[in-house]
Formats: sequence, C-alpha cells, structure tokens
Amino acid sequence: MVGRLENKVALVTGGSRGIGRAICEVFAREGASVIVNFTSNAAKAEDVVAAITRRGGQAVALQADVASKSSVQSMVAAAIKQFGAIDVLVNNAGIIRWGTALNMSEADFDQLISVNVKGMVNCAQAIVPGMIERRYGKIVNLSSIAALATAVVNSTPYAMTKAAVISLTKRLAFELGADGINVNAITPGFVRTEMLNLSDEDSDRARLDALSKKAVLNRIGTAADIANAALFLASDEAGFITAQVLTVDGGRTDFLTHSA
Ligand SMILES: NC(=O)c1ccc[n+]([C@@H]2O[C@H](COP(=O)([O-])OP(=O)(O)OC[C@H]3O[C@@H](n4cnc5c(N)ncnc54)[C@H](OP(=O)(O)O)[C@@H]3O)[C@@H](O)[C@H]2O)c1
Repeated sequence: MVGRLENKVALVTGGSRGIGRAICEVFAREGASVIVNFTSNAAKAEDVVAAITRRGGQAVALQADVASKSSVQSMVAAAIKQFGAIDVLVNNAGIIRWGTALNMSEADFDQLISVNVKGMVNCAQAIVPGMIERRYGKIVNLSSIAALATAVVNSTPYAMTKAAVISLTKRLAFELGADGINVNAITPGFVRTEMLNLSDEDSDRARLDALSKKAVLNRIGTAADIANAALFLASDEAGFITAQVLTVDGGRTDFLTHSA
C-alpha cells in the first residue's frame, strides 16, 4: 500500500517528545523521510529515530533552537544536504510559561515570543524559499485552544503566543497560496505530555478526571489524535484546504461555548 506521504520529506520541530514525537512516527509510517528536530534532548530524539528505523522508516535527528535564526538555517542546510528538499514543515516546538497579563515576567514573555512565535517565522523563512522554487509545500502550525479564549487560569502569555500562531498561519497562507503552498493550524485541546507536568499522584489524577469531563467525548486527547490531524493537513488529501484552524479537542471548546 502506498503511504499518504510517500516520497515526501518532513521536518518536525520539537519532534523528540510528546505531540511532535507522535507526528514524526505517523509521518514515517506513511512513507515520509522525517527530520526530528530537538533543542536539548538528543537522547529522546535519537530514540524517536531508532523507533522509526526499526519499523523500516527513514529519519534523522537534527538539533536547533528554533528561537535562533542562524541555528534554524544550519539545521535546514543540513537537512537539505541529506534529503535534497523539504516538502512538509510542522511547526510544533513550543513552550509554556505561566502568568497573568499583569504578573508575567519580562523574561518569560520574551522566551515565549521567541520560541512559540519567532521560532515558526525562523523555520518558515529558512524552508519556504525551497518550497516556492518547487511550487509545493505543506505547513502545519501547532496553536492551542488557549488561543480560542478557553480560560485556563494563569496561561495568558502562552495564549497570546498561540493566538499569534493563528494570525501567522492565515497571513502565510495568503502570502504563499499562489506558490502552491498550503498553510493550516491545529488547535489541540488538553494532551498529557511533559509540557503539562502532571504526575500519577491523586491530586493530578483528579485534575485529569476534571479535564476529561470538560470534553464532549469525555476524555483528554492523545498525541496520536493530534498527529492524525497533522497527517491529514500535510497530505495531498487536504490540497484545497488552506488558512484553516482545525480544533482537535474532543468537543471541549464548543461545549464550553454552549453550556450554561
Ligand atoms: N500538550 C498539550 O496539551 C497541548 C495543547 C495545545 C497545544 N499544544 C502545543 O503542541 C506543541 C507540542 O506540545 P507538547 O505538549 O508535545 O510539548 P512537550 O512535550 O513539552 O515537547 C516540546 C518539544 O518542543 C521542543 N522544543 C522546546 N523548545 C524548543 C526550541 N527552542 N527549539 C526547538 N525545539 C524546542 C522540545 O525539545 P527537547 O526535547 O529537546 O526539549 C520537545 O521536543 C506545542 O507547540 C504546544 O504549545 C500542546
């Protein structure tokens, strides 16, 4: 059977853990050669590569801090040297820092903007010129339901960066549509990854139960739920879809909007 990303090269930022790891594995299963980007966790990134190659797929781990333009440019040059071109960019790398609009620290705010927003721009600037040349490209950006005004206390600076991701998605789609490049965003609901730092302690279990009940489907999301949406948007099946925001949250956002 032909994979849905056969003969495609995909770069996934933050591919070493969580949602990014699931995206790397699903893309490789569908035939893509995958560049697993990480910033500090080389061992976890190599683990993803090993899992993919064990199943007969192709992957390589490449370090880069997406917040640094020169670091991203070096990574992209190395990727193109190895694979010839990049067809799919998944801007997944992201961080969270907690705070309100009034109490967020300047350092946290600067870091959030640098990684969550500037990081995506750095990757687009390094990769899109090659896509334009080949008149082919798929870009999938990871936003969050936090950007859609769902209130999680103390996540205002993070939510602001994820709202910027939606704006960037729509602008890039507008700027690149004529070049045959699709740009879409995913707004995941709650997915249990290291980002949210929940343990198996009773107090965290209670929080997980409460979060599950907030979704119409009565569960929290898995990294695979998000990866499957990314696969669709990265594939040619989504060829006439651009500038869209796909919410993958088990119905949570809609439920909140319509419940009493
Ligand atoms: N989890 C959720 O509930 C949820 C909900 C909505 C949206 N999202 C979004 O989904 C994306 C993935 O989240 P996650 O929960 O899977 O996060 P995670 O488990 O914390 O993993 C974050 C990944 O990003 C990488 N990363 C962090 N800073 C980086 C940088 N400066 N340069 C390059 N890579 C960097 C990490 O690399 P290292 O391993 O090297 O540190 C890691 O691979 C994020 O954009 C997040 O905002 C998550």
